[in-house]
Amino acid sequence: MRTGVWLVGARGSVATTSIVGALALRAGLTGPTGCVTELSELRGPAWPSFADLVFGGHDVAATPLAKRAEALADAGVVPARLVAALGEELAAVDDDVRPAPVGGTQADRAAAVVADLAAFRERHGLDRVVVVNVSATEPAARPHPAHADPDALAAALAAGGEVLPPSSLYAYAAFTAGCPYVDFTPSTGARLPALAALAARHAVPYAGHDGKTGETLLKSVLAPMFAMRHLAVRSWSGTNLLGGGDGATLAQPEANAAKVASKQRVLGEILGYVPQGDTRIDYVEELGDFKTAWDLITFAGFLGTGMRLEFTWHGCDSALAAPLVLDLARITAAAHAAGRHGPLTDLAFFFKDPLGPADSVPEAGATADRTPSHALGEQWARLAAFAADLHAGAGTPPAGGAA
Ligand SMILES: NC(=O)c1ccc[n+]([C@@H]2O[C@H](COP(=O)([O-])OP(=O)(O)OC[C@H]3O[C@@H](n4cnc5c(N)ncnc54)[C@H](O)[C@@H]3O)[C@@H](O)[C@H]2O)c1
Repeated sequence: MRTGVWLVGARGSVATTSIVGALALRAGLTGPTGCVTELSELRGPAWPSFADLVFGGHDVAATPLAKRAEALADAGVVPARLVAALGEELAAVDDDVRPAPVGGTQADRAAAVVADLAAFRERHGLDRVVVVNVSATEPAARPHPAHADPDALAAALAAGGEVLPPSSLYAYAAFTAGCPYVDFTPSTGARLPALAALAARHAVPYAGHDGKTGETLLKSVLAPMFAMRHLAVRSWSGTNLLGGGDGATLAQPEANAAKVASKQRVLGEILGYVPQGDTRIDYVEELGDFKTAWDLITFAGFLGTGMRLEFTWHGCDSALAAPLVLDLARITAAAHAAGRHGPLTDLAFFFKDPLGPADSVPEAGATADRTPSHALGEQWARLAAFAADLHAGAGTPPAGGAA
């Protein structure tokens, strides 16, 4: 199954690391550590192989991919030997990275994205193209009456004015082109009623939001532990220090607020109450793509005895995110091939702020789907069941999980 992976923000750290990783896997130069679709419990015939993935995308930046990859190698994010070995392949992918459309109305820009997607699919003889948003985090979208209905939205886009933030305009273009869409960022993306209706109209699946790769990943493991042991979490405070392009974007208050809101939902929903404390994100240029998270948790046990847990996480953000981008592209392509459409709520495992039933178009007589759990264990079980279902439909079911 030849599958296009169209990265919005194709020259960013996460995108470049994903591309280098996929090319290295294809060439047998590295192993799939970090890719959950290669675990025995999830592996199977439904996924396109790494060799079947063809990359392209949009970016506002013009730095060639090979240069971005060299900078990431200098920063210790990807091995320099891989970047040196993959120069030709990176240049070939660069030919499929297009400048983000500018000028005209938003309808003109969406049409230009649709044309780029169609040309990419045609040029490489692709069965489908999955659009993955890994572009810079945006501020929350300003409400607009046309966000409620796809036809009103089309009219408003053609009338001029900035009706949609860029992430949502890419989702609009992806659905219009019949492409599934994955949002790895906390931006609005497909999370508008008009876009949910448009995805339903074109029968395409979508997934999101905001890849879960660091502090929130730990929260989604530790918070269920406190809940299951009936321990009362009194406070949970976290400070995240990061550099890189993402860190620079998050130094802006509006983007920072969107990211913090995305991180904070997890605790309240797992514990059933919101403990004291805040999550902070601070930009420290020197740290580059490496992130440090410090969390202090105070909790009470039997007879009210107070205790505390502290952790420090030193993660390389792009190295944690890139394999998940490849996983999401493979799974979403398989879901599309199997005729699934609408929000892929079974992919909550990957996200800080997963899509839930509220993101679907209500169907007459439909019973409410389960609210997605934020607890990693439950998310894993749902993902494994979803994968088994796709593999069973694709041919041989995974033998004991393996294929
Ligand atoms: N790395 C992680 O662990 C992680 C986890 C969750 C979410 N994310 C999200 O992934 C996204 C990418 O992170 P990154 O570290 O690669 O950031 P980055 O700043 O390195 O890359 C973002 C890229 O998007 C491009 N861009 C900006 N506006 C654009 C537009 N309108 N159209 C097309 N391209 C545009 C930029 O030029 C840049 O190349 C961020 O939103 C981040 O919050 C990352």
